[in-house]
Amino acid sequence: TAAPDLAGRHVVVSAGGTREPLDPVRYLGNRSSGKQGYALARAAAARGARVTLVEANTGIPDPAGVDVVHVGTALQLREAVVKAASDADAVVMAAAVADFRPAVYAPGKIKKKDDGGAPTVELVRNPDILAELSAERAVEGQVVVGFAAETDDVLANGREKLRRKGCDLLVVNEVGERKTFGQEENEAVILAADGAETPVPYGPKEALAETVWDLVTPRLRGLPGL
Ligand code: C5P
Repeated sequence: TAAPDLAGRHVVVSAGGTREPLDPVRYLGNRSSGKQGYALARAAAARGARVTLVEANTGIPDPAGVDVVHVGTALQLREAVVKAASDADAVVMAAAVADFRPAVYAPGKIKKKDDGGAPTVELVRNPDILAELSAERAVEGQVVVGFAAETDDVLANGREKLRRKGCDLLVVNEVGERKTFGQEENEAVILAADGAETPVPYGPKEALAETVWDLVTPRLRGLPGL
């Protein structure tokens, strides 16, 4: 019953959380459930878009009518998102991407030392995919959307992050012990590079997803031939 206001569009959504392997059995990960990204993908499909969902470690079944690419690490997620973004009208980065990965991958399981000592894990920075996509824009007028989970000074940090990342919209939500991660409900403010600010009241992730697309749609470039 949704208006097909994304018909003829290709949108890319990332969802879930990356895992950065230390050895064959261990990784650095995060608590992202992927629920918000899946809600975004389903909503876009219902509004008529061709949807590519780049999924990291959610365990959620593939939604009907959505092209799903499964990845594990930040570097794999970057490769899949950049590839899908090459002809996309909009890219929404809902995934929790690890900022760091272990500098070396141990091909065998890291063993406990006999001397009772513990290994030191050296980390290196992962690329900031959202910042790269925003700076490069594979398609002129492509709309790029990011998410930011903040624990304090939510609005001030959100505005600063929007500027730093260079995206068009930033969905900012407050996180804490029992907020957002893995929950069914979400509360957010969507900040736009053009200065608009849209509060989204506490409610289901589906409702936030619809509001994101409501804000993306008027910012899309004109379709050829229209
Ligand atoms: O900087 P921070 O991690 O708070 O930014 C969150 C936003 O940036 C999310 O949209 C996330 O998908 C994206 N991100 C990214 N690459 C990273 C880290 C975060 O694209 N390495």
